[in-house]
Amino acid sequence: MLLVTGGAGFIGANFILDWLAQADEAIINLDKLTYAGNLENLAALAADERHIFVHGDVCDTALVSSVLGRYKPRAILNFAAESHVDRSIHGPEEFVQTNILGTFRLLEASRAYWNGLNDKMKRRFRFLHVSTDEVYGSLVQGQPAFSETFPYQPNSPYSASKAASDHLVRAYYHTYGLPVLTTNCSNNYGPYQFPEKLIPLMVVNALAGKPLPVYGDGQQIRDWLYVKDHCTAIRRVLEAGVVGETYNVGGWNEQPNIKIVRTICTLLDTLRPLVIGSYHSLITFVSDRPGHDRRYAIDASKIERELGWKPGETFETGVTKTLRWYLDNPAWIGNVQSGAYRTWMEKNYAGRQA
Ligand code: NAD
Ligand code: TYD
Repeated sequence: MLLVTGGAGFIGANFILDWLAQADEAIINLDKLTYAGNLENLAALAADERHIFVHGDVCDTALVSSVLGRYKPRAILNFAAESHVDRSIHGPEEFVQTNILGTFRLLEASRAYWNGLNDKMKRRFRFLHVSTDEVYGSLVQGQPAFSETFPYQPNSPYSASKAASDHLVRAYYHTYGLPVLTTNCSNNYGPYQFPEKLIPLMVVNALAGKPLPVYGDGQQIRDWLYVKDHCTAIRRVLEAGVVGETYNVGGWNEQPNIKIVRTICTLLDTLRPLVIGSYHSLITFVSDRPGHDRRYAIDASKIERELGWKPGETFETGVTKTLRWYLDNPAWIGNVQSGAYRTWMEKNYAGRQA
């Protein structure tokens, strides 16, 4: 069995659904259920004994150790994190707690557990750390995409905390021999993404007839990957990745934010036309994010060459599937827009000049 942390969030939930659709190996899902954790994402598994949910914090060493001792997983996949850059600007402390201290505590509990395994289980065990391309900082136009040897230059409290966690994971391999793997992936999109990130926020606001807030000049570039392709990459790295190595995962799909927002508007004009006018008229340029990274781009040639992974979706097919999912799931959208969500929207957007 596998231990997944943060499995009630966007990528973790997609990973669990994807894994259990293809394999009979059970998953223990340890999640704190922060604002971003949502068991509704896993409603399809409510009666499935292969999904064992444990409500808890990765910082809670006693709990993590007891879960490891009880279930004896062959691998730990660490998705749990505070994941939103804008929230890290307003409140960085949670990011230090979960992303740095949480990863450290998880590594310590894993090391003790791994040391106590028999030789066969010890050889087989893997600690797979799910990280981000944001640890590499920002590229200028024309600069080659991030490879695995690109220097770490994180610029936000979020990316700095993820960078710190990556360094700890690396150190546990070099110092203690813990069999770790790290993936650094570009921006994901797809079903179940909380509507604080660019794509779901634009979809949810558009459907409600609200402004679509584009930061700065909208020319910042991100490299977008459909979430299922990220899940496939993680599965492949777990299966065949070389211990101690890192793998960059990306969709070869660099696009400026404004182009993404325009694509969403054009698709919605077809899929859910307004009675009068177009979604494009909702686009509003607002003041920029402090320290906003200009460009991310992933060079995914290592995982393609060494592990034979390739993305299955183009941006056009992935984003169409994503929009259809949000259109088909108004109850999910309604349920995540709690009072806390409205407070966040007020905090992040009310002070931005149009
Ligand atoms: P998310 O914010 O949607 O979900 C995070 C999950 O972790 C939630 O279920 C939350 O309840 C849980 N969690 C938070 N703190 C916890 C704690 N202390 N203990 C246990 N559980 C806790 O995030 P996501 O977008 O699904 O990202 C998952 C991972 O992938 C993160 O590590 C993130 O850095 C990384 N990543 C994300 C992207 C992206 O585009 N979203 C891209 C690359 C890498
Ligand atoms: P986001 O989804 O927050 O991911 P990240 O900051 O981790 O890349 O943002 C993606 C891009 O979209 C980023 O350049 C910031 C921009 N953005 C907006 O222009 N408006 C918004 O309301 C949000 C949330 C993001």
